[in-house]
Amino acid sequence: MRRVVLQPGADADGFRAAVRQLVADHMPPEGVLWDTDDSPGLFGTPAGGEAPPLALPRTVAELASVAVCHSAPERYALLYDLIWRVTQGERDLLEVASDPLVHRLERMRKSVHRDLHKMHAFLRFRRVEGEEGEHFVAWFEPEHHILRATADFFVTRFRGMAWSILTPRGSLHWDGLRLTEGPAANRADAPCDDDFEAGWLGYYESTFNPARVNPTAMRAEMPKKYWRNMPEAAAIPALIHEAPARMRVMIAQQGAAPRRRDPKLAVAAMARQAPDSLAALNRLIQEAPPFVSGGTRAVLGEGPEDAAIAFVGEQPGDQEDLEGRCFIGPAGQMLDRALAEAGIERARAYLTNAVKHFKFTQRGKRRLHQSPTAGEVKHYRWWLMKELEIIRPRVVVALGATAALALTGQAVSVGRERGQRLLGPWPGVLTNHPAALLRMPDETARQQGWNHFVADLRLAAALSERASG
Ligand code: URA
Repeated sequence: MRRVVLQPGADADGFRAAVRQLVADHMPPEGVLWDTDDSPGLFGTPAGGEAPPLALPRTVAELASVAVCHSAPERYALLYDLIWRVTQGERDLLEVASDPLVHRLERMRKSVHRDLHKMHAFLRFRRVEGEEGEHFVAWFEPEHHILRATADFFVTRFRGMAWSILTPRGSLHWDGLRLTEGPAANRADAPCDDDFEAGWLGYYESTFNPARVNPTAMRAEMPKKYWRNMPEAAAIPALIHEAPARMRVMIAQQGAAPRRRDPKLAVAAMARQAPDSLAALNRLIQEAPPFVSGGTRAVLGEGPEDAAIAFVGEQPGDQEDLEGRCFIGPAGQMLDRALAEAGIERARAYLTNAVKHFKFTQRGKRRLHQSPTAGEVKHYRWWLMKELEIIRPRVVVALGATAALALTGQAVSVGRERGQRLLGPWPGVLTNHPAALLRMPDETARQQGWNHFVADLRLAAALSERASG
């Protein structure tokens, strides 16, 4: 009997080295005892060894790289069983879905993928002020050994900030430059709440739609065990409880109001279509009825799909509406000058707006800009979030309070909170809207506003450069 000792957690390197050696030694699965201690501890170093490389079908290698993360202690034995059979002539074994071993491993793969998805979606950072400045800490309880497998995702998304992810299976720490792995943690090691959380909760409550509440589906998508680490979850029981009464009020109000095209239904229908490319999303945006009065067309975001920086404005203005391009009027020209001064190439950035249609009132021949209401911003938010999900910028710049509201769900004061901050899930910079500079009353204020604006754009450029490695 050959005993193979692996490190706790997902010891992919150790497993690979052991498998190479075992196959080279013609050791069948029944002669191997896989020994791994999954109790929490430090990540281990890979087992050494100079075994010859092993050519496995790509699909088998991929399955192994995911299934080693599963929490079942027998994962290595099952995988070695599979690999052994593949090396003994069953090259296409993975295609035999009815094989009990394949079936079991496929279920394990799905379970790990689900866990990864939940961690990406439900992990929430809380802000803490340390001696070295701002730090974000999240507590999460994964079902499987996926911490290392999620590292790239979180480093890419939150490259510009310092953070720690604590779990009962180990921890990850990112200081803006380096990623380190650390020991298992306790829930008590993570902070409980912060201001950001209060804003997020408020946003969640205001966007909760009682007409669409479906507790069974909610629990399937967001299982209860994740709720206690998610600020918005605290509001769910009360919101579900109040949903029938709120529905009755909505129905009564709808009965009293004249019927018209329902943009909310249009957005809900879009959400069901789950566009996965910018072109598909843009088609939906263009087809949807406007939610604000006025505008002749939806003005889409523009810029490369792999842009490192995304700028979010408020809404298209008069010229943008006429020409169908964002930021080409007076505010856009001001933005262009500031971008040039900050060393940012507009053509390499992604520019978009929180609200996609021009909202105005007619005064004689002039169309006067009107600010969107919070409800209107909320309505368009789904599009903006989808756009950013597709672009996945390293840094998002909120140009003004409306953009910040759309990104965070929170009313913010640009004057007080300018600078680097989280904008919803995005690392970012909050700064003035260029139109605010145009409205400043005197030359001194304008000069100071301009200096701040350019400094904020330079900060965004520096963060994006840092984030791009
Ligand atoms: N202001 C914005 O916020 N966006 C534009 O596209 C133009 C002006």
